[in-house]
Amino acid sequence: MPQKAQKRRDSAQKPPKTPTRNDTTAVDSIRLSAVASTTPSTAADVRAARLAEIAGTAGTPCYVYDADRIRAACRELDRAFDGYPHAIHYALKANSSLAIVRLLHESGAHADANSLGEVDVALRCGFRPDQIVFTGVGKSAAEIDRAVSLGLLAINVESPGELDRIDQRALAHNLRASVALRVNPDIDAKSHPHISTGLRANKFGVPIGEAPALFREMAARRGLLPVGAHVHIGSQITTLDPLQKAAEAVVALSRALGAEGIDLRHLDMGGGLGISYDGSPVVDPAAYVRALVAVTRASGLKVAIEPGRVLVGPAGVLLTKVVDVKHFEGAKRFVVVDAGMTELMRPALYNAYHRIEPLVRRPGAEATVDIVGPICESTDAYARERVFPPVEVGDLIVVHDVGAYGAAMGHTYLRRPLPPEVLIDGDRWRIIRRRQTLDELLALESE
Ligand code: LLP
Repeated sequence: MPQKAQKRRDSAQKPPKTPTRNDTTAVDSIRLSAVASTTPSTAADVRAARLAEIAGTAGTPCYVYDADRIRAACRELDRAFDGYPHAIHYALKANSSLAIVRLLHESGAHADANSLGEVDVALRCGFRPDQIVFTGVGKSAAEIDRAVSLGLLAINVESPGELDRIDQRALAHNLRASVALRVNPDIDAKSHPHISTGLRANKFGVPIGEAPALFREMAARRGLLPVGAHVHIGSQITTLDPLQKAAEAVVALSRALGAEGIDLRHLDMGGGLGISYDGSPVVDPAAYVRALVAVTRASGLKVAIEPGRVLVGPAGVLLTKVVDVKHFEGAKRFVVVDAGMTELMRPALYNAYHRIEPLVRRPGAEATVDIVGPICESTDAYARERVFPPVEVGDLIVVHDVGAYGAAMGHTYLRRPLPPEVLIDGDRWRIIRRRQTLDELLALESE
């Protein structure tokens, strides 16, 4: 995820034909609107016309997702298993908007939840408790209690203390909780340090060397049923090697446990597969799955994976509008847009690179600019020193690959209401989250 030297050219786009709006009613509920019925000449024209229509109706900033891309990404992973027993537990943290989670459910995914909120979202969107794994490095007493009483597929245990707490709650409910132990294999995911989780120095899981003793302990507890081993070494991983090594470590562990009579039902290999934000090569999702299966096959155990980014990341764009262009003699050029770190945290938080382009390209020479948001912090920049076509106040800008960890990490700093989200499905689109109002933002408070 390191910020690349941003000397790339943003691809040219022809101006869109004027879209036909079939629905101009107030944007306050989910509703469908047919996309421009004129016949733009290229796929890029169609896309630009549709995005312009959405921006016109929903306003900016606004997230827009493509349902077909999400379905296709899910299908691709599923097919790559080629019949090997598996479950794709969509990591809700990437994007837990109800319509997106419902879409993943309809596409045959299972769920990975990281909080009670996410568990409840998964249930609301149709997932059964036995399709949900529950991870989290610091589960509260309330979370443990609810996870136990729901009978989730597995609670991924993070520590000996947590193991004990889950056992206690299960006994109190007269239940046996299905648990998987999250192991920390001390493997460098070679991703951004902020999202690497598989090293000993990271807070996640238990050192893999301590796992056999903890599995024995779990097997001996009346309130626990050890069903799996879990590993997740990080996110935005762009090479196969660390993922493969982590899988090998978990398979070796399951073998050793089997030899002791502790038979697991599944191996949860976590998420983490990266996507190409800047066009540089990444691991092909199907190749990743094939590698996992190759490592696991001899064990015969079911493979669970917890992908988030790879399923929804490339399917989302953020539409934003230019609100100012600043250029002082001998100083930098700034393109100020109406979205910032409140809507999309990734550039500010990880120096993450996202492709950005004007929706409609204006003629004229490109220049090197910083594309910045309206927030009162210098870290509020989507791109620095990026070669960019000319833009004017009011132009629409598209920020790519924001379907994962975009809206989900949005916040309301500066009293900025949360932006709307739109889902395009085939030739139709609908608002799946309307823009928050200021009254709603303030509704929890009293003077
Ligand atoms: N499973 C566990 C236990 C996780 O902690 C995560 C992500 C996933 C699965 C899904 O990982 P994915 O397939 O999406 O890489 N906010 C950061 C990413 C944080 C990821 C946290 N855990 C970003 O914007 O890049």
